[in-house]
Amino acid sequence: MIDVELLRAPLCHTPADAFREEGALVCHEDGGLAVRDGRIAACGDFASVRASFPTAPVTDWHGGMILPGFVDTHVHFPQLRILGGLGRTLLDWLEHVALPEEARMADVAYSTDTARTFVRALVSHGTTTALVFGSHFAPATAALFDAAAAAGVRVISGLVMSDRLLRSELLQSPRDAHRDSTELIRRYHGRGRLLYAVTPRFALSASEPMLEMCQALLAEHPGLRTQTHINESVEEIAQVPSYFPWAADYLAVYERFGLTGSRTVLAHDVFPTDSELARLAADDTSIAHCPSSNAALGNGIFPLRRHVDAGVRVALGTDVGGGTGFGMLKEGLQAHLMQRIAEPAGLNLDPARLCYLVTRAGAEAVGLGDEIGDFSRGKAADLVYVRPPSGSPLAEVLSRSQSMVESLAAIFTLAGPESVREVRVAGETVHQL
Ligand code: GUN
Ligand code: ZN
Repeated sequence: MIDVELLRAPLCHTPADAFREEGALVCHEDGGLAVRDGRIAACGDFASVRASFPTAPVTDWHGGMILPGFVDTHVHFPQLRILGGLGRTLLDWLEHVALPEEARMADVAYSTDTARTFVRALVSHGTTTALVFGSHFAPATAALFDAAAAAGVRVISGLVMSDRLLRSELLQSPRDAHRDSTELIRRYHGRGRLLYAVTPRFALSASEPMLEMCQALLAEHPGLRTQTHINESVEEIAQVPSYFPWAADYLAVYERFGLTGSRTVLAHDVFPTDSELARLAADDTSIAHCPSSNAALGNGIFPLRRHVDAGVRVALGTDVGGGTGFGMLKEGLQAHLMQRIAEPAGLNLDPARLCYLVTRAGAEAVGLGDEIGDFSRGKAADLVYVRPPSGSPLAEVLSRSQSMVESLAAIFTLAGPESVREVRVAGETVHQL
């Protein structure tokens, strides 16, 4: 058994918040990462790391770049097979594309197969941690947890709960949802790399008794996360008052039932009011920004600058299958592109901010900021080794790159799964090309 392993390659990470601190991006052109017992023992220039561990074996990964493992903060496992359903609005897409497929998850063999393919897709794109919408069916959600445990990836997920609006197979009473959730929490929450997230689908499909039950689950089990959707499309938001006439805005619905705070991730938030932004910041609630999905479903351009100026935590999500795939690098690029065309209101997502968004911001959003997200000493060694195939456009660009920042920008622009050579979670290899 190897005590310490040294990885040698160019490396970048963001130990600080790239939206709020200058110099948050730390890069080492000839980098060294010492890994002991699945944790970072040292990170820096190879020569200095080498001096601390003079006899440790070295894995030479030159020709590529090491980055912290990516954190996808919003993705739906039952929607893998409906990626590419372009050209519809959110509510039309849900009814005619997403929900019929989600109903198929009642078949355990089908959902188990989907779950395995899903976790393979995560790791092959460099995602080491994901906050995942499970299924409306408990056995399918269990299949996702089992597949994640078998693959070694960190998954935070939960039974998706709805008791109105959706097709009848997907509806459950609050009492049954409480029973099934409790059983899943007992089986999976805190087991290995798994955590449980209370997951009401969205306000339109969850009654007040259902949301009260979600609040009860959070009180009954310490350490749970919460995930749902908010302010995604104009058409959706317009329906909130008819279900919750007492609510001043969309966020007020979740606030009423204690579903906001530092352990909550709300997906989208394309149309927040200033008051909602101030309350999200005050409560330390995170937003999962899903730019591909926002564009594909025609919802709108995310007001990133308003979120950052208000002090709201923002991370990135692929939103498979409303989005366009599993690549967090691609999602970062999409965020960058949409902020470009949002000028003058858009925010420039430079490589430091992109790196932060796909790694540390996600770690903080899912409440794992002390454990993962960058290469600080003592954190788990979750990492991605990106090296493009020789002769590929990315390899050519990198070969003439003048700086690490330039290389990082090129990786966000051009790297797909063909360039994700190795992925490790807590030092264990979970994917290799
Ligand atoms: N709102 C409620 N359910 C969904 C979903 O599955 N995808 C997206 N993008 N928005 C939703
Ligand atoms: Zn979603």
